[in-house]
Amino acid sequence: MDYKRYLITAALPYANGPVHIGHLAGCYLPADIYVRYLRAQKRDVKFVCGSDEHGVPITIRAMKEGITPQDVVDKYNGIIKESFADMGISFDIYSRTSNAIHHDTSQAFFTKLFNDGVFEERESEQYYDESKDIFLADRYITGTCPVCGNENAYGDQCERCGSTLSPEQLLNPRSALSSAVPVKRKTKHWYFPLDKYEGWLKEWIVDGKKDEWKPNVYGQCKSWIDSGLQPRAMTRDSTWGVPVPLADAKGKVLYVWFDAPIGYISATKELTNQWSDYWCSEDTKLVHFIGKDNIVFHCIIFPAMLKAHGGFVLPENVPANEFLNIEGEKVSTSRNWAVWVNEYVKDFPDQQDTLRYVLCSNSPETKDNDFTWKDFQDRTNNELVSIFGNFINRTFVLMHKLCNGKVPPVKDELINDADRALAAEIAASKQKVENCLEHYKFRDGLFEVIDLARKGNKYLQDNAPWSLAKTPELQQQNQARIDICLHLCLQLTANLAILANPFLPFTAGKMCKMMKVVDRMLDWENAGKTNLLKVGYSLRAAELLFRKIEDTEVAAQVEKLKINLKQATSLKMENTAPKPAGQPAPAIVAETLEAPAQKPEITIDDFMKMDLRAGTIVKAEKVEKADKLLKLELDMGTEMRTVVSGIALHFKPEDIIGKQVTVVANLAPRKMRGIESRGMILMAQNGDGRLIFVSPLEVADNGSEVR
Ligand code: MF3
Ligand code: ZN
Repeated sequence: MDYKRYLITAALPYANGPVHIGHLAGCYLPADIYVRYLRAQKRDVKFVCGSDEHGVPITIRAMKEGITPQDVVDKYNGIIKESFADMGISFDIYSRTSNAIHHDTSQAFFTKLFNDGVFEERESEQYYDESKDIFLADRYITGTCPVCGNENAYGDQCERCGSTLSPEQLLNPRSALSSAVPVKRKTKHWYFPLDKYEGWLKEWIVDGKKDEWKPNVYGQCKSWIDSGLQPRAMTRDSTWGVPVPLADAKGKVLYVWFDAPIGYISATKELTNQWSDYWCSEDTKLVHFIGKDNIVFHCIIFPAMLKAHGGFVLPENVPANEFLNIEGEKVSTSRNWAVWVNEYVKDFPDQQDTLRYVLCSNSPETKDNDFTWKDFQDRTNNELVSIFGNFINRTFVLMHKLCNGKVPPVKDELINDADRALAAEIAASKQKVENCLEHYKFRDGLFEVIDLARKGNKYLQDNAPWSLAKTPELQQQNQARIDICLHLCLQLTANLAILANPFLPFTAGKMCKMMKVVDRMLDWENAGKTNLLKVGYSLRAAELLFRKIEDTEVAAQVEKLKINLKQATSLKMENTAPKPAGQPAPAIVAETLEAPAQKPEITIDDFMKMDLRAGTIVKAEKVEKADKLLKLELDMGTEMRTVVSGIALHFKPEDIIGKQVTVVANLAPRKMRGIESRGMILMAQNGDGRLIFVSPLEVADNGSEVR
């Protein structure tokens, strides 16, 4: 089917934290590539997105940071919007679900369904915090996980063992707002009868979309439908969200997954008066780009809502990506294990296309993938710089050196088979990239682009115009062949700009500048042609398109991940709010990096309970059948003490005799391997695991107190 219009959406990110590169790889980058490709084809396209500013995660974040939900969304909406702009994600509009137009649109949507009698009204019992006078969303209830015993599991999930829970399953449920024991209270909500749409969904997805949708998307939908659909509450008891537009619904808001997808409609309304052309006519191709955790909402719930409402187009495709892990581990925002886009932009100024390249060439299109900084370096240096950048740079340098900085002429009678073969490759690459992009195979598409550059390099190497011009006489003899070679390489360069443009828009822009052509040259219809640059046209000098990533940069980024993780975990231990993501980590000297998190505070009285004394090791021997233990005799001034210490892997007995150490003298005696140990010696442990003596700088009297 030929579509008149394209409406492309990218999942509205929650405005409760900055976006990380997993978000980019998951949906924003593929959506942007697709949209840029459509625009280059001069198709009528709108690309909409915005911040999802409602829902429990935002209220939780506000609670943790001690600010209002409004503060949270204001702050992160700004950060997110800027990150997208910095990375060249070219939305036609980036809106917010807190905008009045969205409140109106989503309320009108709800009202229509209500008036049509779509909803079922149901009373249920839900946990309520009497001290705060508030119903508790699942996330607001904490308690002991029935599966693993974690005492801080949430009402919907245990973050320790990953079990999905319902609040009823928690042992010892507590309110996360006040620690009060929650009580059950009756509440009324409006349910969308998904079960009634089961037949229709089956027809539409299972019978209809099987071959078009990605297997991961289709598979998830099918298993949902097969396991039977249930009515789902579309309202919540909360003060944060779009108020339910009914008289008897005080203190109730629309469920965030009801209002957020309607945000696509509100954003389009905000963008153009012609919004209904895009939403309400059958010749629009609607495509939702999302991450895999959003599949049921976009493939089942929202389409059923649209169907119930009537008059809207349904998504033609929902090309969801899987997840991108970081250095072998799942992204975790609470542990701050993520590469934040706003930080990348700061650390790698003017290197947006490098990240776009790496994320696309390693995109989790069919399975979870792993991002590592080493791979980032390898792909950048070995592919982007060595193949793509290098070809263009050589072409330009040679053209300036051997062809007076102008597009050289072509003598038809001297064209050979290799020239024709390259021209054919150029022509074919348009179709290849196009096929990939039309089917949401962005990795493969990008590979084709690089492959074309690779062929250019080979052609240049085979023809070796530099050796045809070794001496002025030789050059004169060979000038016509040199000209043909560089002419073709320049036409290839122009093609690379067109084909790379959706993926690497910053680079394509720079290339246009070098070729002194306007952006219109990047129109997709120009791809495949070998007459894009006119003979005799003078071109600028080569510009550096990419730079190599140094080992030190890789090391610094890996270090930064570790620092962030450390901070997030130690802050958690202190039971304070986690470091707001996206803020620069305070500098920490390398030696302390591996230091364990601090223990909870103690009082001076706690400390005074310890009897610490100086003592000297006078005898040391291995404990039989225990490779880690040494039996030490300590001179404690007024007495000798036997202490068994787990340091045998670190020191030879003879090397530590005579050393003075601090001894915990009042530690309860303990038997190890039949030897009674009376006390413990203190040592420092380095990040690398080595043990270090922290002995007095001067010899102290044995038995003297350490305070
Ligand atoms: N905020 C959701 C998330 O980050 C996505 C919402 S997509 C929308 O997972 F369709 F609801 F807008
Ligand atoms: Zn658990």
